[in-house]
Amino acid sequence: MKIFLDTANIEEIKEAVSWGIVRGVTTNPTLMNRAKADYATSIKEICEIVKGPVSAEVLAQDSEGMVKEAQKLSEIDKHVNVKIPISIEGLKAIKELSALGIKTNCTLIFSANQALLAASAGATYVSPFIGRLDDTGNDGMEVVADIVQILENYDFKTEVIAASIRHPMHVLEAAMLGADIATVPFAVLQKMVQHPLTDRGIKLFLEDAKKAGLKI
Ligand code: G3P
Repeated sequence: MKIFLDTANIEEIKEAVSWGIVRGVTTNPTLMNRAKADYATSIKEICEIVKGPVSAEVLAQDSEGMVKEAQKLSEIDKHVNVKIPISIEGLKAIKELSALGIKTNCTLIFSANQALLAASAGATYVSPFIGRLDDTGNDGMEVVADIVQILENYDFKTEVIAASIRHPMHVLEAAMLGADIATVPFAVLQKMVQHPLTDRGIKLFLEDAKKAGLKI
């Protein structure tokens, strides 16, 4: 499973990319607002750091407006894919953008049927929001499992991005289910690296190395 970073924060992106594990970045208007940066400039900068797929979301609600905005966003960099919220207008836009060769990430997916429709319209990615489903008492991971199964059953090329990830278990479960990608907030990535036994192990090795007078 590929790891994308779910942020528009340049410092977080630079840091996580330096770990060698980030294959792409997803943003949305909320994350852009947190980063307090100019939209196009920020997306360009992210693309220069990551050199992999970067999602930027449209703001229009009608298909014509979505297509126009998507064309503008995709001109920023060849790595940009355009986030389109699932809706009837969104499906129309995905269909058109797919014909134009512009990659799309159908976002705000909360059911497997929504993902099936987005994939059928030609979406490059579908993004089920796990955490937000869990928040409402539903099982977000069940939706991911259904989507993975459906796309596999019918040999869709659409990739599944497990999104709205809140903790390391979400990443683990998405990987076990065969999601193609998990887009992970920086704080969750940090937690994934850590384990108390690793810290204890390093401490013990260092103490023993000192006792043995080891030098490299
Ligand atoms: O990629 C979508 C994600 O950013 C939504 O996450 O935590 O706002 O539900 P969250």
